[in-house]
Amino acid sequence: MNEFYQKDIISIKDYTKEQLETIFTSTDKILNLSPFDRREICKGKTLGYLFYEPSTRTRLSFDSAMASIGGNSLGISDITSSSTQKGESLADTVRIMSIYSDILVLRHPLDGSSRFAAEISDKPVINAGSGTEEHPTQAIQDLFTIKKEKKKIDGLKIGIVGDLKYGRTVYSLLHGLGNYDVDVRLISPESLRIRSDSTYEIKKRLDLTETTDIEEHLDDLDVLYVTRIQKERFPDEEEYLKVKGSYVVGLDMLKRMKDDAIILHPLPRIDEISADVDKTKNAKYFEQAEYGKYTRSALLGMIINENGF
Ligand code: CP
Repeated sequence: MNEFYQKDIISIKDYTKEQLETIFTSTDKILNLSPFDRREICKGKTLGYLFYEPSTRTRLSFDSAMASIGGNSLGISDITSSSTQKGESLADTVRIMSIYSDILVLRHPLDGSSRFAAEISDKPVINAGSGTEEHPTQAIQDLFTIKKEKKKIDGLKIGIVGDLKYGRTVYSLLHGLGNYDVDVRLISPESLRIRSDSTYEIKKRLDLTETTDIEEHLDDLDVLYVTRIQKERFPDEEEYLKVKGSYVVGLDMLKRMKDDAIILHPLPRIDEISADVDKTKNAKYFEQAEYGKYTRSALLGMIINENGF
């Protein structure tokens, strides 16, 4: 039996380096299969999604991933059109969705929501973003992108810039990177520094430098992971306005980076990477979004099939 069979994906902290590498190997296998063979992997299976927050990439990449491996998807992408509006609880909504599907994908504004759903659901649950806490499948696609584009993860110098306080992808990425030998520079405004309560463990495992100054690190980085300032999570708009536009990665910054450095972003982007960077060879954020479809196909294939694929 493969070790991912019928298992939830709640936190990237639950994965060892060996398990992450197994996911990457399975993703490569997906990439090398013909469309015909891919469609056999989850033939006749149903993915159910519940999105209590907006999403473009995560929901559509799960949908597209499931279709490409022969399954189908159903779910709620706009919670205001569901019986949640009548007062139905998350617990009951999850119970119902687990009747109609073989695997559940949940995005919810509360930390702990996916773990709670996994306790209720008879079917495996995948965390597609829980509050400011985690987005584990994003981290898997981020690590896979780094590995594909840089041919390795160990030994790299990685800058993470932007909203490090509220950006859940940052926490999952840091915990994923904790399995590797990397040098990480955390670059943010003072008020958006990484939350120390959520990084206590990771600080013991990762070589981390915290700074507000992106300029002094640019020429040293192999990867620059840019994040959006998460306006919707600020308790006070005045505080958001103080940090809005703190860092904008443009061609001027890119010129000062290594020729083969790559720029990543989990997306959506607002103004933190200027559009003229998109056509450079360093911009890899759209490839990153595409890899998300394949890493998610691999995860679904492994969770749904007892003997893998
Ligand atoms: N990266 C990401 O989670 O994007 P969406 O919010 O569009 O799903």
